[in-house]
Amino acid sequence: MPTVPQNIYDDPDFFAGYAKLRENPLSANAVVVDPARDALLPPLAGKRVVDLGCGAGGFCRKAIADGAASVVGVDVSERMLAAAQSEPVNPETERRLRYVCASLDRWDAPAESADVIVSVLALHYLPDVRPVFASVANALAPGGVFVFCVEHPVLTARRAGSGWARGEDNAKLHWPVDDYADEGERVSEWFVPGVRVFHRTLATYLDGVFDPGLAISRIAEPMPDEKAVAARAAFADERRRPAFLFVRAEKG
Ligand SMILES: C[S@@+](CC[C@H](N)C(=O)[O-])C[C@H]1O[C@@H](n2cnc3c(N)ncnc32)[C@H](O)[C@@H]1O
Repeated sequence: MPTVPQNIYDDPDFFAGYAKLRENPLSANAVVVDPARDALLPPLAGKRVVDLGCGAGGFCRKAIADGAASVVGVDVSERMLAAAQSEPVNPETERRLRYVCASLDRWDAPAESADVIVSVLALHYLPDVRPVFASVANALAPGGVFVFCVEHPVLTARRAGSGWARGEDNAKLHWPVDDYADEGERVSEWFVPGVRVFHRTLATYLDGVFDPGLAISRIAEPMPDEKAVAARAAFADERRRPAFLFVRAEKG
């Protein structure tokens, strides 16, 4: 199993495809993921916030707008960080917002230096999440909150080339869950061939959070609601199996 994470967001074709996807106001990120993230977070005013796998910095800017005392966005992709940094900021924001180019498997921060740590749809790119969870537990101040979201294990279990089981008319029959206990690399095509993510069971994610002493306070498996399905019919299938797993944990 590879031990070095892939930096696929710096691939120009992947980056272009992903950027286009995020332009859609009815993307799953905009309609499902971001609202679920916000619902799990405490008020950010006055908080020291870290975003692990911050991408183009959308959440970082929101945290600043919400009055966070400081925000650090960490990402391995220079292209994503360049997109984040191309957004106009005023001098006051510049004082509170910082971006760091680093892979999360090497990320570390001083003990008790953060009040809120967020990671949305980044950790499934890592071969091993345990060092990240240990760094999060160390970096959080007492009472601090960690919210993360990954591709749901029901989704990542599948092998390349599989996915929906389809009928003769190509209709989606059901989503088979297979190879669930076989954790590790899954390679598929998403904008480009060879995109690598890592499947882990639900138990591995939850134990990974418990092990460094964090207490899980909420789990969420957000899906499009009826309003979203009315706005975008393709969302109906996204209610047939979970695509996203959110966990909120706290440091005592
Ligand atoms: C699906 S995007 C999500 C971006 C952002 N969190 C959001 O919700 O808009 C995943 C991000 O994780 C970053 N990422 C993937 N592997 C990483 C790693 N090993 N270290 C740091 N960032 C990583 C990617 O570069 C990308 O910006």
